[in-house]
Amino acid sequence: ITTDLADEYETMFTLTPGKMRAIVEGFKDALELGLEKPHQTVAMIPTYIPGWPTGKETGDFLAVDLGGTNLRVCLVTLLGHGKFDIAQAKYRLSEEQKHDDGQKLFDFCADCLKNFIDQNLEIEEGTEVPLGFTFSYPCAQDRIDQGVLLHWTKGFGAPNTEGRDVAAMFRHSLAKHVRPASPSQLFSADFFAAQGLPVKLAAIVNDTAGTLIASHYVDPRARIAVIFGTGCNAAYMERMADIPKMRSAGMADDAEMAINCEWGAFDSFENRYLPRTKYDLTIDKACNKPGEQIFEKLISGLYLGEIFRIVLCELKDDGLLFENQDPDKLQVPYAFETAFLSLMESDQTDELLMSIGIFSHFFSLQTTLAERRFFRTLARLICRRAARLGACGIAAIVSKMGYLDEECVVVVDGSLYNLCTGFSDHLHEGLEDIFGDKGRNIKTYHAQDGSGVGSAIIAAMTTQQKNSPA
Ligand code: BG6
Ligand code: GLC
Repeated sequence: ITTDLADEYETMFTLTPGKMRAIVEGFKDALELGLEKPHQTVAMIPTYIPGWPTGKETGDFLAVDLGGTNLRVCLVTLLGHGKFDIAQAKYRLSEEQKHDDGQKLFDFCADCLKNFIDQNLEIEEGTEVPLGFTFSYPCAQDRIDQGVLLHWTKGFGAPNTEGRDVAAMFRHSLAKHVRPASPSQLFSADFFAAQGLPVKLAAIVNDTAGTLIASHYVDPRARIAVIFGTGCNAAYMERMADIPKMRSAGMADDAEMAINCEWGAFDSFENRYLPRTKYDLTIDKACNKPGEQIFEKLISGLYLGEIFRIVLCELKDDGLLFENQDPDKLQVPYAFETAFLSLMESDQTDELLMSIGIFSHFFSLQTTLAERRFFRTLARLICRRAARLGACGIAAIVSKMGYLDEECVVVVDGSLYNLCTGFSDHLHEGLEDIFGDKGRNIKTYHAQDGSGVGSAIIAAMTTQQKNSPA
């Protein structure tokens, strides 16, 4: 392993400011096109979330949050004045569940919800608790409580789900459960009337939109929400007058609606703007959705560890790494977790002990100091490229909305942003490379657990204010 080799990768994974500005321009066009016409690559999905919360929403709400890795069930008590309490339980999704029949996935969500209610909540007979469902995949909506899954992303592939209303599928699963009946109901017709969990599915919400609304509830400066996690996406609030494809919806021009950008699809099929390495092409070709989510595949936590792994396998094949050792564990697709990149990048020890540990413990490989130095450089390059591309997406929204002249608060969630130490610095450097000093007007804040709370607030907005445009 030589310095020349590290330089080669530096060139391959570095985005110059000029290149970034060109990406931002292309991105802005893609956002505009998605607002103008349906069925565009960047879908710009109207969420039917009717504007910002007032902060006065109060009461108990349930939220089910189906992300890329976990399923969370939350009981959110909105206290008004931007305050809330939350109790939650996390359930791990297995790889099989992501590819098993779709209805079974919603059955699992309903089972976890039932389990959570049994343990945490006493629901008064004859009442139903409003439920928000954070479903973090692209769904076409024409009302807040319905959503047709356009296509799976983030490695999911459960059959019999794409093209179907996931709210209806979830309701079907909820209805399979028998409510705990009171003794007086046991032999009466009420017993049968009381089938199904005592919840009312009030809203289907993307995680970006949930994060946007939850953050605005506690800090009304929040304008854009971005997820850098297993997937990558953003939401913001748009003026109805600037969503030409919704002209026939009959809403006032000065009304606002949250837009789920689904920006992970940027440049898919066209391949005009994003510089892709041969490693990116390999990942795309081998995944369950080749050609789709091209922007996301360069950025999100699902793929960064895999990019690193493929580079290492190639160098091993070329005889440049792991001399006389068998790399069989490293040859397993997706075996190298993105979290490892962050651990290596932030390792400050002279011997780079973190890499020694990762390679010997998980891959049974011994490493030299020169190899470990190269790994740290490569990890940094891959994370930095991801963050700089993320900066391009944020810059496109900021510049389209004219938010640059004042402080613009962007709230961010997701494992990549939260766990990868250098990510936020790389992101801000990128914003300054695009906008110069004005890039400093963009502030990013971590929005922990935002989307579950957001779903609950949106359920409150739709059930309490009854002002949904649906
Ligand atoms: C969580 C949100 O905090 O972050 C989820 O509650 C969101 O809704 C998730 O999907 C994204 O991060 P990751 O890393 O789980 O994909
Ligand atoms: C994927 C999904 C999108 C989600 C994002 C972050 O891009 O398509 O809906 O918001 O991941 O979880």
